This record gives sequence, C-alpha cells and structure tokens, in this order.
Amino acid sequence: MADRKPLISGNWKMNHNHFEAIQTIQKLAYALNSEDYDAVDVSVHPPYTDLRSVQTVIQSDDVPVALGAQNVHQAESGAFTGEVSSSMLQKLDVAYVIVGHSERRELFGETDEVVNEKANAVLAAGMTPIVCVGETLDERQGDQAESKVASQIAGSLAGLSAETVGDLVVAYEPIWAIGTGETASSEDAQQMCAHIRSLISDQWGAAAAGSVRIQYGGSVKPSNAPELMGQADIDGALVGGASLDADDFARIVNFRLYQT
Ligand code: PGA
Repeated sequence: MADRKPLISGNWKMNHNHFEAIQTIQKLAYALNSEDYDAVDVSVHPPYTDLRSVQTVIQSDDVPVALGAQNVHQAESGAFTGEVSSSMLQKLDVAYVIVGHSERRELFGETDEVVNEKANAVLAAGMTPIVCVGETLDERQGDQAESKVASQIAGSLAGLSAETVGDLVVAYEPIWAIGTGETASSEDAQQMCAHIRSLISDQWGAAAAGSVRIQYGGSVKPSNAPELMGQADIDGALVGGASLDADDFARIVNFRLYQT
C-alpha cells in the first residue's frame, strides 16, 4: 500500500443525536488503542448538531480520532439560511470535510462545480476535503463507470495544485453499493481506485498520485474490510451504516488484524 497511511472514516449521515454521539465516540475510544492509531488514521463525521459534543469528548479524553464534517457551504459567511461555513467547522477542530457525497449530489443537486468550490473553501480554512466520486448502476452496466469518475475527478479537483491534490482524500463510492449491502468486488474497487490514481498522475503528476489517499466506500463491513483494504490502491474506507455501531467500526479500523 505504498507508504500511505490508511484513513478509515465513519460517515454517520443523519443519525445519532448528540447524546448518542457522545456514547458512540466514548465506546469507540474504549475499543481502540495506540497501536491501532499508529497503523490507521480514524475520523468520525457526525451531524452538525453533534460536532461540539464530540469535539469535547475527543479533547477532554485525548482521543486520537479526527473530527470530520459531512458537508459545508462554499461561502465564507452571509445570507445562506441553514448553512454552515468552513471557518465555523475549523473553529470546532474539524480536520476532514466530506464534499460531494453522492447523496448531496443526487438529493441536493450538487454539481462538480459546487463540489470544487466546497473543496476550495475547506482547503482555505486549513482542513482536508474528502472528495467523493462514483458511478450509478446504469453507468456501470453501460460501461461508463470510468468516464463518469474521470469527469467527476476533473471537475471536482479543477484548478487545484499538484501539492494540494497530493494531500487530499478521494473517496470512490459506487452509488449502487451505498447502503444496499452490495459491495463492489475487491477487484472492481481496486481497478477503479487505480484508475483514479492514474487520472491524478496524468493531470497532477506522479508525486501527487503517489501520496493522495483513495478510500473505498459502499457497504463496507467488518467482514469485507480486510480484503478491500488489502488492495494496492485502496487507502482506507468511508463507512456509513457500519460506523454507527462503535464495535463494528472499531473492527473495520482494525482490518489489519483480520487479514490473511
Ligand atoms: P454505507 O455508506 O457504508 O452505508 O454503504 C457509505 C457512504 O455513503 O459513505
């Protein structure tokens, strides 16, 4: 896996109120130890209303889990009722922000252009975007998966420097595998993650391609994580459903202990 440290991220989506969030981060902290954090970077992405509570637990108990957000608005401030800016997230010690999740793209109409603006806003506030890409089932069946992902990479990362791209996280999430229990085979997931790395190499150079971390997401579970995470171009996972349970998520974080 080159020398890229895997990043396992838990995307809680619209689940867990702040009481449940506190319990979950406390249980997770209990389940993981310093060797786990040496091997793997870990982030949790609670809903906005939980961020302050989770930050407080992380800080007061010195938990080496990074705080993440699920979304952000691209503007710095202003008349955007209901939105949250990157500087607000940064003040809460948020380190990673998911941008362009397929649910945001599909349900809230986010285009590659908007995703690009959001990625820039996150970077400007000194945080790391996790930029999501992925094809629909129709696109996969119509042999368009690679071209769809290529256009999402080009559009979402447009204008970023090679150095910036090298520090990013990209999450490959085939839409048909999200929340469905269907997982891409480890070969298919590896093939697309290698494709993403070669696209990045073509446009931003070998150094950026060698250091960018590429996560796989879509029904990652304790049972399939070891094989998926063993693929050469997969540098971690973006985990939805299975991240809501601290024990399941800890087992995913500890995929290396279950690899054969
Ligand atoms: P899932 O979600 O693990 O529940 O499939 C993944 C995601 O949407 O990030």
